Amino acid sequence: MNSASPPRHTRIAGTGSHLPPRRLSNDDLARQLAAQGIETSDQWIVERTGIRARHFAADGVACSDMALDAARHALEAAACKPEDVDLIIVATSTPDMVFPSTACILQAKLGIVHGCAAFDLQAVCSGFVYGLSVADAMIRSGAARRALVVGAEIFSRILDFTDRTTCVLFGDGAGAVVLEASDAPGLLASELHADGRHVGILCVPGTVAGGRVSGDPLLKMDGQAVFKLAVGVLGDVARSVLEKAGRSEADIDWLIPHQANLRIMQGTARRLKLPMDKLIVTVDEHGNTSAASIPLALDHAVRSGRVARGDTLLLEGVGGGFTWGAVLLDY
Ligand code: UT7
Repeated sequence: MNSASPPRHTRIAGTGSHLPPRRLSNDDLARQLAAQGIETSDQWIVERTGIRARHFAADGVACSDMALDAARHALEAAACKPEDVDLIIVATSTPDMVFPSTACILQAKLGIVHGCAAFDLQAVCSGFVYGLSVADAMIRSGAARRALVVGAEIFSRILDFTDRTTCVLFGDGAGAVVLEASDAPGLLASELHADGRHVGILCVPGTVAGGRVSGDPLLKMDGQAVFKLAVGVLGDVARSVLEKAGRSEADIDWLIPHQANLRIMQGTARRLKLPMDKLIVTVDEHGNTSAASIPLALDHAVRSGRVARGDTLLLEGVGGGFTWGAVLLDY
């Protein structure tokens, strides 16, 4: 590549992920909730969501710890060292602290001391797709050459375990990719969207003020409102990103959507006329891990040998904000 001109493309050089060792099946969680007088069942959770289990981080584990493990795996897969990275983006809604960013904490834990840019990106469950798009733009502008983009979440810390309509849905985890400048594609097209009129349908409304938590620091969701919006926007943004890249539905080898609800994911695949065996599903074992869900699913699909070099992938995120977006790429 001619180093004098900005690169034309960005490609994924490596992927990695982390799941906390503590796995809770639906039955495990139902037993725990029953002890508090809350009734749920494996049957309800599987039928409505496709979720069978989730992983919860142990006390004392921080978001940056999970991000670190995922990042190390991605760096190893990309055959590069931490100091080769010159941009760090961590997509998270569950940062270690109010500030500084989890990205700065991760930078220190990776031992990167050359002063590269590091920042958190807050777009809830769309955060990883937002992060990919921002890093791609920075690489193609010449502002960075090798970026670490991480989605990492500890939603178990913001769940209301007295609210069965939300607490059965989410899990903890982290996923990461190393992106690098390349002459060949790469990321083909991306689209990001938000509609702040829907702030209230999925939120953690509390904040820190005057030395204490002000407002409710636990997750609230109007599940049906989110469901309806998600199904509509995911179909539209998929078409629009394909059109931007000059590709069609038939070119998609793998659809890797945000892993929140199997019914939403299958609905999106149907709208794109994709057979269900082109849909990567990890929500059954991970639950909804928000910004971590897509990179976790991607890494599992790569390491299990389903996603191979040269495959065309459609990644789609949707979540609080309301935010949504898609990235089409040749892996
Ligand atoms: O990551 C961000 C994106 N988030 C999402 O994509 C979530 C989108 N929404 C959804 O996935 C679904 O709306 C849910 C899974 C959250 C809920 O499914 P639903 O089919 O919309 O159920 P519902 O809220 O209409 O509830 C149906 C019934 C209610 O009982 P009644 O009123 O019909 O008697 C609920 O009280 O199911 C009951 N219910 C439960 N029962 C057992 C709600 N949660 C539970 C539970 N266990 N955990």
